[in-house]
Amino acid sequence: MPAKRATILAKSMELQSLLFISLSLILLCSVDHVICGRTSTFIRSEWPSTDIPLDNEVFAIPKGYNAPQQVHITQGDYDGKAVIISWVTVSEPGTSEVLYGKEEHKYEHSAQGKTTNYTFYNYKSGYIHHCLVDGLEYDTKYYYKIGKGDAAREFWFQTPPTIDPDAPYIFGIIGDLGQTFNSLSTLEHYMQTGGQAVLFVGDLSYADRYEFNDGIRWDSWGRFVERSAAYQPWIWTAGNHEIEYRPDLGETFNFKAYKHRYATPYVASKSSSPLWYAVRRASVHIIVLSSYSPFVKYAPQWFWLLEELKRVDREKTPWLIVLMHTPLYNSNEAHYMEGESMRAAFESLFVHYKVDIVFSGHVHAYERSYRISNINYNITSGSRYPMPDKSAPVYITVGDGGNQEGLAVRFSEPQPDYSAFREASYGHSTLELKNRTHALYRWNRNDDGKPVPTDHVVFHNQYWASNTRRRRLKKHRRSQASYIATY
Ligand SMILES: *[C@@H]1O[C@H](CO)[C@@H](O)[C@H](O)[C@H]1NC(C)=O
Ligand SMILES: *[C@@H]1O[C@H](CO)[C@@H](O)[C@H](O)[C@H]1NC(C)=O
Ligand SMILES: *[C@@H]1O[C@H](CO)[C@@H](O)[C@H](O)[C@H]1NC(C)=O
Ligand SMILES: [Fe+2]
Repeated sequence: MPAKRATILAKSMELQSLLFISLSLILLCSVDHVICGRTSTFIRSEWPSTDIPLDNEVFAIPKGYNAPQQVHITQGDYDGKAVIISWVTVSEPGTSEVLYGKEEHKYEHSAQGKTTNYTFYNYKSGYIHHCLVDGLEYDTKYYYKIGKGDAAREFWFQTPPTIDPDAPYIFGIIGDLGQTFNSLSTLEHYMQTGGQAVLFVGDLSYADRYEFNDGIRWDSWGRFVERSAAYQPWIWTAGNHEIEYRPDLGETFNFKAYKHRYATPYVASKSSSPLWYAVRRASVHIIVLSSYSPFVKYAPQWFWLLEELKRVDREKTPWLIVLMHTPLYNSNEAHYMEGESMRAAFESLFVHYKVDIVFSGHVHAYERSYRISNINYNITSGSRYPMPDKSAPVYITVGDGGNQEGLAVRFSEPQPDYSAFREASYGHSTLELKNRTHALYRWNRNDDGKPVPTDHVVFHNQYWASNTRRRRLKKHRRSQASYIATY
């Protein structure tokens, strides 16, 4: 029967082409990475994206007259031998002195800080204290005490190990946190990981969502993150919610609350602005950029970045990480292509200097890219599409801290080739630097009360591991079973 034969033939051809397509997919995928782009089907049973009420215990005001609140620390110098300790007192300026030492309750040293305050429309801030504590020893636990009398409070922190290419260190990466129950879940999960410092990729309090940008929500956020930020440095990046440009309220001094409240050690890296700077910690050189400050060629930030990249010494700090708020590669419909102008300005530098990872936030979902670049395109000619590029960074968006704006659930379809994994749910990441060649990276989804490791990558250092990397890729071509991508 010819008709039947034809159908069978057609069926087998269909099968063959299907087989061919899936084979070539496997081949394509195995050349540069172990798995192909994946969009997670996980649907989160969501807590409402509303801020926790102000009278909730997570925002509790510490007891005692003029007690220090909103305590947070950040790295205070270029190399990790200093911290800036910041806090707020509300009744009176009080003292800006920090007592500190290596033994609990025994404070052999003291440092004198400074006080500042600001108004924003009809909001009047408390007294904001910043105190630089420097000349610290590496890898040492320090205890510190701030405030006076009964209202004094004590905390501690651990200094990082000496700058060393093989110094192990664990970073947490959190973005777009806000102050909802989802935010609390993210923060609590991060605090269970053993992370030693936080790379915060912008959008802190979302106070600008309130009428007149109510600064009371800056204060509550300060009390909210204190449980972590008083004990370990948070490396700050400014996001769009920090801009607070409100000419209608007479407020045109951008980043007013952010700059008053969250100090950065920008002078140590020869920056002219607290919004962009660099620090070195353990085995990593961290460069923080501002998506909302000029960055085009010849702008101060562009000049500074050029100089800072020259200062990177991969023999001492093998890992090179860049933080910014707006992602350069992201395939979510939210904020789509907003990073395009910075990509045009900086991408070729990132490729030239072999940046390991670029972390960003802004988009309220998780996404990780392959190593790709789009630097061959110029507006006259060249390849128009992002291409696999082993010198390029991996771009990771961790804008999923859980703020009141909710999740960015619509990804553009089909998933672009540059996108390795994406999921619209809340969470945080950890990056465990093991030595000069290996780092273990995880994205941990908040799954209703418990953290679930969801995306898992072994990063091979872009400077030290290129030979190792080639060997590893060969091995992986033989064993396709693993869900663990390697770079
Ligand atoms: C800062 O505090 C001082 C002392 O209480 C006060 O006189 C001043 O007006 C405040 N400044 C601002 C900008 O709120
Ligand atoms: C852009 O492409 C044109 C045409 O090929 C070429 O002449 C020019 O040098 C390129 N410009 C840059 C900056 O690469
Ligand atoms: C670096 O760390 C990785 C992962 O822990 C380990 O497999 C590797 O042997 C280490 N390399 C060196 C030189 O210690
Ligand atoms: Fe944002």
